[in-house]
Order: sequence, then structure tokens, then C-alpha cells
Amino acid sequence: MEYLKGENFKLKPEDHTLSSHKPRILILYGSLRERSYSRLLAEEAGKILDYMGAEVKFFNPDGLPTYDYNRSVDHPKVQEIRELSLWSEGQVWSSPELHGNISGLMKTQIDWIPLSIGAVRPTQGRTLAVMQVSGGSQSFNAVNSLRILGRWMRMITIPNQSSVAKAYQEFNDDGTMKDSGFRERVVDVMEELMRFTYLTRDHADFLVDRYSERKKATQ
Ligand SMILES: Cc1cc2nc3c(=O)[nH]c(=O)nc-3n(C[C@H](O)[C@H](O)[C@H](O)COP(=O)(O)O)c2cc1C
Repeated sequence: MEYLKGENFKLKPEDHTLSSHKPRILILYGSLRERSYSRLLAEEAGKILDYMGAEVKFFNPDGLPTYDYNRSVDHPKVQEIRELSLWSEGQVWSSPELHGNISGLMKTQIDWIPLSIGAVRPTQGRTLAVMQVSGGSQSFNAVNSLRILGRWMRMITIPNQSSVAKAYQEFNDDGTMKDSGFRERVVDVMEELMRFTYLTRDHADFLVDRYSERKKATQ
């Protein structure tokens, strides 16, 4: 993280947090291409988050079965993504834009994560940052879809987001991101994700507690 040396990030409002461990961030990406720009973008975000003091884990979707109701959840890749989601306090989702939407691989990962199994809620109350890459001019179709999914999974999707247009122009041969306004935006998004995670992670259960569900539980 040579280009961030000397940068003094102010991420943690004094005396606000109760937990002292590093924020736990899970990163999902939506393409298996060897030189996948959505994965490279995800890796750039991971390096920035690591620099900012997060504990970062990636889920490699290679081998994850296509989602189907009838499929067993015993598959090791299904178990892995569920456990990672449960472990996380915040997430980053980075999808390619394909035909004006997220990739099927991105969607199948999210479909495999249950909203709840009894009291276990693998996504609810977690923070979420959404990002996309596209081959054409800048668009927001994929990040908009990811926002809908974030709402559906009852996550705290942060306001800022990253959309990297003509992604094939934005990465070096070694896979790192070129210095650009797009890269600065990724830093902005990760800074905001860290702040929201510090502010909300100790209150996740409180934030997802709903009147209608409490009422149902007593009936
Ligand atoms: C089937 C297909 C559909 C695509 N649709 C779009 C699109 O709707 N808008 C766009 O800007 N780029 C589109 N692209 C370009 C991809 O977004 C671009 O190649 C991107 O880098 C793919 O993600 P990846 O590098 O992570 O595999 C499409 C590419 C493919 C193969």
C-alpha cells in the first residue's frame, strides 16, 4: 500500500466502540475469469481494508453449486460461505455488470446465504459496500441490484459505492489498480465502510430487532 503511506485515516470515533477486535470484513466477487477485474477490484479493496486495520477474508466461489431449493446445504462450499458470512461484521460485494445486471455467480452466492435459521442471522445487521466493474461507459445497474439484495438481506448498505467503467484500462499487469479517480473512490468507500462498521457492529442485534417479529414470536 505504497500510495497510502502518510495518509492518516480517522475511522474510529473516540469512545464509541465496545468491541476492540479488528472489524471482520468478508469480500465476495462475481467472476471466475483468470484476469477478472471484479476480483482485482475486490483484492484492491481488501488491501485497503487491511491497511485500515480490518481482518479481511475472501470467499472463492469456484466450485460453489448453482443455487437450487432442492440442493443439500451440506456441500463444503455452501457451508464455507455461510460460516464466513456469520463470522463477518461487514461485507464487500464486487460484481461485473453483465447484460445490465449482476453476474449469475454473484447472485448464486447471495442466494446460498439464508436470511435466518432460527436465531442465527448470517447477514442481518452487517454493513455492506457495493462495487461493480463494467466494460462499457460508467453505469450503476449492478450496484443498484446489489443494493436491492443488501436490503433484502437486511444489511446496512453504506451510501458510497464504486463503479469502475472500462475496467480493462484500470489495472496494471500485476493486478494492482492504477492511480486514478476510480482508485481514490475505492479508498473513500472502504473508509466509509470501516466507519459504519465501527459505529454499528456492537448494535447489530438491536438494529434488526422488529416489532412484527417480536409479536409473532409471542403468538
Ligand atoms: C455476457 C457479457 C455481458 C456483458 N454486459 C455488459 C453490460 O451490460 N455493460 C457493460 O458495461 N459491460 C458488459 N460486459 C463487459 C463486462 O462487464 C466486463 O468484461 C467485465 O470486466 C467482466 O467482469 P470480470 O472481468 O470480473 O470477469 C459484458 C460482458 C459479457 C461477457
